[in-house]
Amino acid sequence: MKVELGQNLSAEQAIKLAIFEAKKGQGFVAPNPVVGAVILDQQGRLISFGHHARCGGDHAEVAALKKIPAKTRTEVLKGTQVFVTLEPCAHQGRTPSCAQELARWPIAKVVYGLEDPNPRVSGRGAEILRQAGVLCEPSEVLQEELEDLAEIFLTNMRQQTCFVALKVATSLDGHLAMRDGKSQWISNEKARHSVQYLRGVYDAVLVGSGTFLVDQPRLNSRHPRFMQKTNHLVVLDPSGDTLPHFIESPAAQVRPLQQITLVISRQQKEKWSGSQLGQRDQQLKELQERGVTLLFFDESSRGGQSSVDLAWLKKELFGMGLTSILVEGGAHTHSTFLQQGAADRIYQFIAPVFMGGSSAINWTQDLSIRDFDQRVKLSRVQFFRLGENALVTGRLFR
Ligand SMILES: NC(=O)c1ccc[n+]([C@@H]2O[C@H](COP(=O)([O-])OP(=O)(O)OC[C@H]3O[C@@H](n4cnc5c(N)ncnc54)[C@H](OP(=O)(O)O)[C@@H]3O)[C@@H](O)[C@H]2O)c1
Repeated sequence: MKVELGQNLSAEQAIKLAIFEAKKGQGFVAPNPVVGAVILDQQGRLISFGHHARCGGDHAEVAALKKIPAKTRTEVLKGTQVFVTLEPCAHQGRTPSCAQELARWPIAKVVYGLEDPNPRVSGRGAEILRQAGVLCEPSEVLQEELEDLAEIFLTNMRQQTCFVALKVATSLDGHLAMRDGKSQWISNEKARHSVQYLRGVYDAVLVGSGTFLVDQPRLNSRHPRFMQKTNHLVVLDPSGDTLPHFIESPAAQVRPLQQITLVISRQQKEKWSGSQLGQRDQQLKELQERGVTLLFFDESSRGGQSSVDLAWLKKELFGMGLTSILVEGGAHTHSTFLQQGAADRIYQFIAPVFMGGSSAINWTQDLSIRDFDQRVKLSRVQFFRLGENALVTGRLFR
């Protein structure tokens, strides 16, 4: 968004700019929310803006305040309006309370995007400001955009679990690979660049053992913005099929083993000892000793089905500090996330090709829907053109 200091902005433009600013923190602030702030003078002219850039660093409001020279700050802030995407925080955490910081200055009005869902803050930030004589009100515009912006944090706070997005590249007829496993590349370079960005934004990437073995992917972000960041990897591998190849795999070469979690079935593991799969116990032990996190799930908890209870898995991963997960397939993995209602968003990259129903794998081939009324629906759908590919993204609400 192109703006200049001194430019007149409407309330809607100010919130739009605050959202744009907030996005600069994506991928760097977890477990905090991304937040942006904009300050307008009495005549509605832009005098400062800022964002929360990293966890433990200045909050957006403070970043915007600090851009105004300390010597003139009191004078410049007289009668100003502050627009911030999330209610200013009321509690002293890693940094001082933003509500109290704002209340120190002669600001006339604070407009906030969303009430903070954090029970320690909710409504109290606004209250502190009102008590200090600052007019404080929620934004009347761009509510959906503000909720989309904060979707990871809102899910973390409201449901105490991680936010999950499914990402897939398909043909026009919905296929993600040929039956012989070949899938590289279905999407174009622009689409793959966007995927690199998403990998940087999300705390972890999750794949099934099939994709891990067939594609030999690295699953890290090579986007210039995220070169210094290493994402976590989660592999759903109930039977331990990846174990013999794990250490040499590209995914294990590009990140510390401490940033890998393997999800194994307790029942499958019990079958290894005394069988020709006995060496898997040793391979598993070695990975654990070298720092890989192991999560064992109980098949009996899902009526003897080998599919992991994904609500349980999400809570476990959230407990490990992972606030957001990007699921990168394959077909079986995506299908189970949809079947169990365990995904919050979809990113589907679509290439203008057909791969054929009898020769290729459909990305939801293992999803079964009882009748037409039960079909899975997206809301707040957005379409983006990426050269000759399209990106469809939307929220899954249950
Ligand atoms: N175009 C794309 O965007 C894209 C992306 C990724 C992959 N692919 C393609 O997809 C193909 C692989 O798909 P796939 O369906 O064969 O494999 P997959 O989904 O990657 O892995 C399947 C295996 O993962 C485990 N698993 C998955 N979901 C599980 C759950 N909820 N609970 C427990 N275990 C779970 C199971 O292991 P067990 O067998 O041990 O039970 C299952 O057999 C490859 O050809 C790959 O190239 C394409």
